[in-house]
Amino acid sequence: MNKSLTYKILEKNLLKGRVVEENEISIKVNQTLTQDSTGTMVYLQLESMGIKDIKTDLSVAYIDHNTLQTGFENADDHEFIKSAAAKYGIIFSKPGNGICHQLHLERFGKPTDVLIGSDSHTPTCGGLGMLSIGSGGLDVAVAMAKGYYFLKVPKVLNVELKGKLNPWVSAKDVILFILKKLSVKGGVGYVIEYSGEGIKELSVTDRATITNMGAELGATTSIFPSDEITKDFLVRQGREKDFKYLTADDDAHYDKKIKIDLSDIKPMTAMPHSPDNVFQIKDIKELKVDQVVIGSCTNSSYTDLMKVAKILKGKKVHPDVSLVISPGSSNILGMMADNGALGDLISAGARIIEAACGPCIGMGQAPKTDAVSLRTFNRNFKGRCGTKSADVYLVSPETAAVSAIAGYLTDPSTFGEMPDIKIPQKYDVYDNYFIYPLENREGLEVKMGPNIKPFPVNKALKPNLNGKVLLKTGDNITTDDIMPSNAKLLPYRSNIPELSKYCFGTIVDDFDIRAKENKGGFVIGGENYGQGSSREHAALVPLYLGVKAVIAKSFARIHKSNLINSGIIPFIFKNKDDYYILDEFDEIELVDVIESLDSSTEIKLINRTKNITMELIFQGSKRDIEILKKGGYLNFAKKIND
Ligand code: F3S
Repeated sequence: MNKSLTYKILEKNLLKGRVVEENEISIKVNQTLTQDSTGTMVYLQLESMGIKDIKTDLSVAYIDHNTLQTGFENADDHEFIKSAAAKYGIIFSKPGNGICHQLHLERFGKPTDVLIGSDSHTPTCGGLGMLSIGSGGLDVAVAMAKGYYFLKVPKVLNVELKGKLNPWVSAKDVILFILKKLSVKGGVGYVIEYSGEGIKELSVTDRATITNMGAELGATTSIFPSDEITKDFLVRQGREKDFKYLTADDDAHYDKKIKIDLSDIKPMTAMPHSPDNVFQIKDIKELKVDQVVIGSCTNSSYTDLMKVAKILKGKKVHPDVSLVISPGSSNILGMMADNGALGDLISAGARIIEAACGPCIGMGQAPKTDAVSLRTFNRNFKGRCGTKSADVYLVSPETAAVSAIAGYLTDPSTFGEMPDIKIPQKYDVYDNYFIYPLENREGLEVKMGPNIKPFPVNKALKPNLNGKVLLKTGDNITTDDIMPSNAKLLPYRSNIPELSKYCFGTIVDDFDIRAKENKGGFVIGGENYGQGSSREHAALVPLYLGVKAVIAKSFARIHKSNLINSGIIPFIFKNKDDYYILDEFDEIELVDVIESLDSSTEIKLINRTKNITMELIFQGSKRDIEILKKGGYLNFAKKIND
């Protein structure tokens, strides 16, 4: 009794350890997903493990990030991933099929199972009661090769929803409201579980919008129970056999609880440049809009886009607005073509683009200089859209559509009657975009084009580390800041030497030169270092440039684990004020590192330039320490034969 949803799934899949808070356990992984931006590295790592078959029930390799093909690089990477999928028995999703999370929700997600994905928005499948965790690519490679995943048993935060949604308020407003309340750090260390009568107000795709943006709260993942609404979704997707009930016990133990009355929520927006910079739209002074973009793994479901089509039907997009729409999946695009909604969007003046991530990562549709861009996406970090001077506001699909017509950021509740969306009894399934693995895969080999370069592998940890502080950053540095990802750089995600020229490019433009001249060194960070995308390159590129440790006030979860997996030690200051004493180019030495890690004692930092000492702390498991001592997870995983 007193089990939460999280504890029930962890116990069902438990391989080693006890499900007790803070304990490290290993669990069976039922499914994995990769997208192409992180996937090339995952499959290079899988290839280096010398396995024959994957150990998961099902793994899918999606191509959704870098679908523009202006040179051979992306196309070669797609071919590499396709060949690796064929060799190891992985389902391959061709470019044009849609966004990994939307597709996984529609086609594969299963209540009560465990999904590990090399993308930070993997928690989207929490909308149908699946424990779906975003992780570093190497964890996903190991999950496929060995069938397990290690994690520290998380704390559980219960969000009880009550009341009813106001007209024109939708799931996006709910999660923006929660982000305002809890901030981008509010979910760190927790799985967020939703409960209460209010969840009956939310469809599976609404729930998925909320669990998707749990990533912006910093949560390990977010999850809803699996109930009649989940069953209805799976039946309409033709997957009734995948349904299982999952409810928390009435007396479930939660480490923290909050209550939210849905009727308190009004249409919201996250203002530039953080998803928790949230305000009610009615409180924002007149804001002229240049671009509106609807789509992404957060808000591109059939219902989302049908609402947009209904709002735009018979109307005209404002002459000063560029309205861009990318559907979440080929199924949704196909269904909207069949029912006429696509025609309504086009005749209103919308630009329809491929079912892919696209503008979410600046892969096309960068707005003009100083533009105001309203997006239904999950992130609005500076420069992510491809235009550094643009201001991105995160909004619901309803707000986006109404504002595209008005030309101003507009509270949709002023628009008139809400569109009524009828969900089809059966969703169409365009299965021809998937390539399923052959029974007999004998003799299949991976194909590596010239853009694919070997990835860096660390050496075993030395007892003392010394070098210069190469860079000191502020708070909330994102993985986009560490390793920018834009249309120009994305084709090089399997070419670390080329990417290294742009490392920390949003902060300084000579980090690679500093690192090379000083033969590597250290990075100093503020709070929440490495928030945002799960991009493993934000650890692999610093590793290639010789970064030995990052010393910060605090770390974002996935990035911290990516650093450990690369053999770069994530230290935190024992005394946070010591952050202010360290400066760029100070010569520092960390002494007796291995001994201190083994004995769980503070690590001594000697600042040779200023002749002062301070203490650092490593927060991690015994296994993390073993990984660091071996010089990263790949070296560690190769040495264990289970
Ligand atoms: Fe793709 Fe953006 Fe989601 S890059 S996976 S749509 S956060």
